[in-house]
Amino acid sequence: MKVKLEGNKIKIRKIGSSDVGDIYQNVKDKEVTKWTLNIPHPYSRKDAIAFVKRCRNKLRKEERYTFGIILKETNKLVGLVSLFHVHKNNKNAELGYWLGKNYWGKGIMSEAVKLIIKFGFEELKLHRIYAEAFEENIASRKVLEKAGFKLEGIRIESRYKYKKFHNNYEFGILKKYKPPSRKPKTL
Ligand SMILES: CC(C)(COP(=O)(O)OP(=O)(O)OC[C@H]1O[C@@H](n2cnc3c(N)ncnc32)[C@H](O)[C@@H]1OP(=O)(O)O)[C@@H](O)C(=O)NCCC(=O)NCCS
Repeated sequence: MKVKLEGNKIKIRKIGSSDVGDIYQNVKDKEVTKWTLNIPHPYSRKDAIAFVKRCRNKLRKEERYTFGIILKETNKLVGLVSLFHVHKNNKNAELGYWLGKNYWGKGIMSEAVKLIIKFGFEELKLHRIYAEAFEENIASRKVLEKAGFKLEGIRIESRYKYKKFHNNYEFGILKKYKPPSRKPKTL
């Protein structure tokens, strides 16, 4: 791998079965999964084991790249960041992430997102990365905006959670934004 997956406070690395405990401890917290789409609650150790196994299979097929977020100071896994739905023809992938509640608000996810985007564009040669967040998930929307994602649209009441419909914010970032070329008109 050419890309260095290391920032100031954190590094990101592939996950394995020894990470099941940390994943379970963090994800079982209802606050962490409150505004996520696919993580069940209550969350069991078995869910974490199945998840790590699924990640390994998907990595083999190059469909999903899931990295643990490791605090350099303690060498502890404090969250995950993934590129999934990797579409080879379109060179697109979706970004998803979570962080254990004790680690929120310290700029950790902003660092992790920068690293995985670099990996996506430079190592996987993606053209576009996209992500979505519930309107209520202000912290997640901020992480995306700070990383350079553009708000592409708001799907009104497109998600149903907690017996209510919610607006969904859709974001995207291109490897390189190229403004339309303005060639002088030739008469
Ligand atoms: C969303 C999440 C990853 C953010 O991670 P984080 O490391 O705390 O984010 P950062 O510290 O890098 O930046 C968050 C920004 O949002 C701001 N923020 C955090 N909570 C906020 C809130 N409730 N309202 C407004 N702003 C908030 C922070 O101040 C910061 O902005 P700033 O840099 O301008 O000060 C984390 O809260 C989390 O794991 N949530 C649960 C899982 C989840 O929702 N995943 C995303 C699904 S789309």
